[in-house]
Amino acid sequence: MDIIIVNVQVDVLPLVNPAALATDPLGARGQTVIAAVREPGHSTSRALADLTQGPGSTLITHGIDPLDLVVANAGISKQWPSVREVKRADIQEHVDVNVLGVVSLAKPIFASVGSSAGSLGRVLQQPPVPNASYGASKSMLNWYGVRINAEDEWLTAFILDPGWVQTDMGNRGARAWGMVEAPVQLDGSTDGMFKVLTTATKEAFGGRLVLYTGEIREW
Ligand SMILES: NC(=O)c1ccc[n+]([C@@H]2O[C@H](COP(=O)([O-])OP(=O)(O)OC[C@H]3O[C@@H](n4cnc5c(N)ncnc54)[C@H](OP(=O)(O)O)[C@@H]3O)[C@@H](O)[C@H]2O)c1
Repeated sequence: MDIIIVNVQVDVLPLVNPAALATDPLGARGQTVIAAVREPGHSTSRALADLTQGPGSTLITHGIDPLDLVVANAGISKQWPSVREVKRADIQEHVDVNVLGVVSLAKPIFASVGSSAGSLGRVLQQPPVPNASYGASKSMLNWYGVRINAEDEWLTAFILDPGWVQTDMGNRGARAWGMVEAPVQLDGSTDGMFKVLTTATKEAFGGRLVLYTGEIREW
């Protein structure tokens, strides 16, 4: 199976870590990993070329047709305003990146990275903090996840929740709320997401909110 990773961050604790995917044990499985970065000239982007690759593993930037799996990982969480305080421009920016960026993609297995911050019914598990730009954008993303899966029989689409992970974003949020760091370690999240992504079927996960552990969550 070929894998495309969309908009990975290679310098600090990426959620979908191209280094992790290109080396054992994943590299040993003959994976093709595509790392899409916004700054190809950045030292961490160039460092991708130095990764140790397992037998049959390839790290490339082109030449894949068709794509079997797309992970829409890019996302922003820039501030945590209350609904009373949130600026329209900030909502718009979060919708542009977190929702419209995802909607513009559609491939055979389509996982967009969601968040419990977007929960509606699961109120007790929604972080009880102001989050009127990011949280609302992830809630909107959930709607698209259901519809994208429903509109095409051949497509398996679902919302993948990575957990509250020790990335730039996750740790920034944790510190803002008085914690030292986010609770979920990067390896646990990425290993879990890889398993979910490589075993996903429309029957099991299509149109659902799936935690990195494989647990299907309430919206
Ligand atoms: N960390 C958590 O606890 C957590 C929890 C639930 C959901 N998530 C979701 O997981 C995904 C990854 O987040 P993260 O924790 O890895 O955050 P992060 O450390 O802040 O990384 C964000 C990633 O999104 C990319 N990105 C941001 N704005 C972009 C834009 N306008 N166009 C293209 N790419 C853009 C960044 O690219 P550059 O490197 O080029 O800036 C970077 O690769 C997001 O969708 C986030 O909402 C995270």
